[in-house]
Amino acid sequence: MSVTVLVGSQWGDEGKGKVVDILSERYNIVVRYQGGANAGHTIKIKDKQFIFHLIPSGILHENVTCVIGNGVVVDPRALLDEIELLQQNGYDIEGRLLISQNAHLIMPYHKLLDSISESGENKIGTTGRGIGPCYIDKYARKGIKIIDLLDKDELAKKIRQNLKEKNNLLKNVYHREELDVEKIIEEYSAFDKAIDPYVADVPNFLNRSINEGKSILMEGAQGALLDVDHGTYPYVTSSNPTSGGACTGTGIPPTKITDVFGIVKAYTTRVGLGPFPTELTDETGERLREIGAEFGATTGRPRRCGWFDAFLVKYSATINGISKAAITKLDVLSEFDEIKVCVGYELNGKKLNTFPSTASILEKVTPVYETLPGWKQDISKARSYDELPPETKDYLKFISEKAGFEISIVSVGPRRSETIILDN
Ligand code: GDP
Ligand code: IMO
Ligand code: MG
Repeated sequence: MSVTVLVGSQWGDEGKGKVVDILSERYNIVVRYQGGANAGHTIKIKDKQFIFHLIPSGILHENVTCVIGNGVVVDPRALLDEIELLQQNGYDIEGRLLISQNAHLIMPYHKLLDSISESGENKIGTTGRGIGPCYIDKYARKGIKIIDLLDKDELAKKIRQNLKEKNNLLKNVYHREELDVEKIIEEYSAFDKAIDPYVADVPNFLNRSINEGKSILMEGAQGALLDVDHGTYPYVTSSNPTSGGACTGTGIPPTKITDVFGIVKAYTTRVGLGPFPTELTDETGERLREIGAEFGATTGRPRRCGWFDAFLVKYSATINGISKAAITKLDVLSEFDEIKVCVGYELNGKKLNTFPSTASILEKVTPVYETLPGWKQDISKARSYDELPPETKDYLKFISEKAGFEISIVSVGPRRSETIILDN
């Protein structure tokens, strides 16, 4: 029996979707605990590709129950689109998808306020999915939850209350057109029948399942450096992708968690604004983007690319409690003559002992690199560790030692089959 938290160890898009899909064979339940449709988790089986934004990436396994925890912010339209896509592809999700009654709803005004905020001076480079404004309302105790969809009067009352304030803001502060209250009530009232079959008491279900000896995989979205508390604030998302968020976002107590599994990309990427010490703005960065197809799975934006930052991943491993990890996208490095790894930072000529997550400091640091030889051959056909070239093994050993984790999966291509499992 294991209760595993799986986390992105960098700035998101590490390949969590692919690894969750593979690990799901070993679990009965897969749970999302934070974030919303800002996430884009890709799974590729042969030449068929799925991108999940809200539904946990275990859904393609028919014996796995997928759960959306209370910590997730749910856009009902996006969720229903995903359910439909699965049904069109012949996946039966009947009785296999549960949504916490306490998850908050993304409302049309959240997306609008997200875009207004992004057009001003405090731009973050968000995904525009209304994530920040929805969590603001949650913490301001004005949010509307999944359970409210099942009570039409309560829903209409809450939408009216919220829109009084939002329309005031839109009209008098942002000088925009007011939103149509009745239209939003009508749109959201119509979700009840479609969402009703999935609504559940998630903490009760999960804790009962643990007592019955079931194994649970908790699928983090985003990554540690996008964490609102531990990331490069303010250039972060509005939730806790780090492992601690898995407890508050699901109702599973910390004492039940057995291990934390990190997803580590073999180089570094970031979408949106914010400091990125190992970013390559030259031709090498462009090659990484091109070979790695580094374009956002949610927004299509080009991802910023750079060398692996072991100093950053060590910080991430520490705050998440990562013991084992999957190294992803190793194949992308195959064409490079030499590969650099950042092993520390200098600030004003002095070596830093600890990772500074503070954005204003991180912007000023100079990365200290060590250079390793490339392997210059295709590794995407390798299916066992022994088949990897010596230089590739040396690279894996170097980054895992510097960042402080043990490798248990190596991913050498986007497809399910392009994977090396080191332990079973
Ligand atoms: P997530 O948000 O962490 O699930 O990651 P994304 O799905 O946003 O981005 C990862 C991208 O890399 C997707 O397009 C995956 O299909 C792809 N991918 C995952 N693992 C590998 C790998 O080992 N090699 C290559 N070349 N692509 C990979
Ligand atoms: P997955 O789960 C990469 C980034 C945005 C922006 C910041 C805030 O696919 O790894 P938000 O819309 O959350 O308010 O945007 O966070 N961001 C991600 N970057 N992967 C993600 O998810 C992300 N979700 C949000 O680009 O910089
Ligand atoms: Mg992604």
